[in-house]
Amino acid sequence: MNLESDRIRIREYKESDIGSLHLLLTNKKVMTYMPEIRSNALDDSYKTLYDAIMESKLIHRNKFFFAIEDKDTKAYIGEIGYTILLDAIEGKVVNLGYFILPQFWGKGYVTETVKILIDYMFETQNIIKICAGCVADNIGSIQVMEKAGMVQESHLVKHMMIEGQLHDRYDYRILKEEWLVRVQNH
Ligand SMILES: CC(C)(COP(=O)(O)OP(=O)(O)OC[C@H]1O[C@@H](n2cnc3c(N)ncnc32)[C@H](O)[C@@H]1OP(=O)(O)O)[C@@H](O)C(=O)NCCC(=O)NCCS
Repeated sequence: MNLESDRIRIREYKESDIGSLHLLLTNKKVMTYMPEIRSNALDDSYKTLYDAIMESKLIHRNKFFFAIEDKDTKAYIGEIGYTILLDAIEGKVVNLGYFILPQFWGKGYVTETVKILIDYMFETQNIIKICAGCVADNIGSIQVMEKAGMVQESHLVKHMMIEGQLHDRYDYRILKEEWLVRVQNH
């Protein structure tokens, strides 16, 4: 898989990404809302990287984790990916996630990446619903989901424990038919 816009490329991981991925996974600011996938040592980051690479070789793939890079400089920006939650005759339901290095925040990178990936997912994969969610105080992530045309599906109260504190969670979705309406209106 290789997707591009004018300024970014979304591509499969390769072994040489270890340094960049380790920086991302160990960055406390980036991983605040995702303590469960934070890396504590280089070995953890290697496991995450090899899992992503192994999955990319499978015919029946369940996890799709991609590197986002600057097209000109080839700088590693961060990660976007999805996992299959349900694989029904009608189509697949998937969960989407994203996180990028702080120096790239607030420049529209994730909104752009999510839009490109959503188009790819609905156009080429048998996907009927894309879900995403975040802690209720993660304004940046809420903005990304809304700008990408997703709609809020639930507000789960006191649902997540992060650094000893309970947080609410918002879940968002976009259905294939909702995406089609958006595409037809552009
Ligand atoms: C949340 C995150 C993915 C946003 O990515 P990003 O590339 O900075 O987002 P964008 O630049 O596309 O921002 C989309 C909009 O949200 C706004 N925004 C981004 N971060 C914001 C913040 N912390 N507070 C307020 N607004 C914010 C942007 O200004 C932009 O609005 P605009 O188009 O009106 O200017 C990124 O900050 C990140 O990786 N955070 C750490 C990991 C994380 O929380 N991942 C999500 C877990 S659910």
